[in-house]
Amino acid sequence: MTKRLSNKRILLGVTGGIAAYKSAEICRRLQDEGAEIRTAMTSAAQKFITPLTLQALSRNPVHLDLLDAQTESAMGHIEVARWADLILIAPASADFISRLAQGRSDDLLTAICLAADCKVVVAPSMNRSMWEKNATQNNMGEIQKRKIKILNPDEGDQACGEVGVGRLMEVRNIVNALSEMFETHSLSGKQVLVTAGPTREAIDPVRYISNHSSGKQGYAIAEAAMEAGAAVTLISGPTNLPVPARVKIVNVESADEMLEKTLSIIESTDIFISVAAVADFKVESPASSKIKKTGELKLSLELSKTPDILLEISKLNGRKPFTVGFAAETENLIKNAEKKLREKDLDLIVANNVSDPTIGFNSDLNEVTVLGHQLHKTFPKSSKKTLARNLVVVIAEKCLDSISYG
Ligand code: C5P
Repeated sequence: MTKRLSNKRILLGVTGGIAAYKSAEICRRLQDEGAEIRTAMTSAAQKFITPLTLQALSRNPVHLDLLDAQTESAMGHIEVARWADLILIAPASADFISRLAQGRSDDLLTAICLAADCKVVVAPSMNRSMWEKNATQNNMGEIQKRKIKILNPDEGDQACGEVGVGRLMEVRNIVNALSEMFETHSLSGKQVLVTAGPTREAIDPVRYISNHSSGKQGYAIAEAAMEAGAAVTLISGPTNLPVPARVKIVNVESADEMLEKTLSIIESTDIFISVAAVADFKVESPASSKIKKTGELKLSLELSKTPDILLEISKLNGRKPFTVGFAAETENLIKNAEKKLREKDLDLIVANNVSDPTIGFNSDLNEVTVLGHQLHKTFPKSSKKTLARNLVVVIAEKCLDSISYG
C-alpha cells in the first residue's frame, strides 16, 4: 500500500478538550501512513489524556513545558518547530485558538507555533455555542489570515449532550486532509540514487581538473525525490551545498570513485538519476608530490578518458534501474540529447542549454526539455527547486509506466 505520509515529520499538538482522547488515534493513523510523530501537550490536555499514552504511541518523549531545562536541552521548542514538516493542533480548544490569534508564546505549544516556518494546521473542537460566538469566529478569521489551515469541526452529537457544529473532524478525514497537503507521494517505497556536482581529477596532491557544476540541480532533485516519499542516496562530488534533510550523502572526489560508489549500491536502486557533471578526462598518472615550476614555459599532461558512469549502469545485465541522464549542451540541444538517449540506452534524458548564463551551472534557475519514449516536454524557466519537483513528477509517471508495461 502506498504510504501517503512517508518521510513526513508531524508534530501533533494536543490542547485541553474532551476530544483530546482522539489524539491517540490520530497519532496511530498518521503513523499508519508512514509519518514520524512527535507530540506536545498543554497542561489542560494532560487532564484528559496522559503524556505516557502519547509517548508510548509516538515512541518519542512528549514535549510538555516551555521552561523545562531538561526537555529544552534535549530538543527545545525552536528545534521542535524546525524538526516538523507540519504542525497539527488537534483538538484545538477555544482558549488555544484565542491565544494563537493573539500571537502569544507563553506556553510551549503557542511558542512552537510562533517559531514554526512550516505549515500549521488547526482542528478545532468545542461546545457548539463556544464555536458560534463572535469571539471564536473572529479569532478563527485572524489565524486564517496568517495562512494557518483550518480543519473545520463536524456537526453532530457533542460530549456535552448538545447537538451542533463543534465536533472534532473525523480522524480519517484529518489524515486525508494532511496527506493531501503534502505535494506528492509518487515515489513512495522507491530507492532513488542521484549523482550530483562536479568531479575532481587530481593532477598532483594540490591541483586538479574540474568544472563549474554547483550541484544545485542534483541536490534539488534529491530533495524533491525525498519529498515524494523515496529513500534517497546522493553521491556527490565536492560542492558547498547543505545536504537535504533525510537524504543519505556519499561524498566522492573523482569519476572513478563516483563509479565505484554507484556500482556498490546500484543493485538496490529503483531509479538512477545521473545529474553529476562528471569530468570526461583524468590525468593518466597524477604526480605523487607537488609538480614544481622548472622554468619551462610548457607543461604537458597526458589525459585519459574517465569511465562513463551512466553508460556503465545502462549496460548492466539483469536488474537495471530506471535510468535518467542529463545532457548539458551548448548547441543542437535536442538533437544531441536524443543521440545520448539512444546511445546510453536511457529511459529519460533531461536536456539543458548551458550556453545561457541565466540558466547555467551556477544559476538558481533552469529551463529544460525532457525526452523519452513518446515524450518531449519543455519546462519553462523556473527555480531549480521547482523544476526538480516537476521532473520528479515526470520521472515517477514514466517509471510507473515502465513497470506496468514491462
Ligand atoms: O555524454 P555526456 O557527458 O554529455 O552525458 C551526460 C550524462 O552522462 C549525464 O547524465 C552525466 O551525469 C553522465 N555522465 C557520466 N559519466 C561520465 C560522463 C557523463 O555518468 N563520465
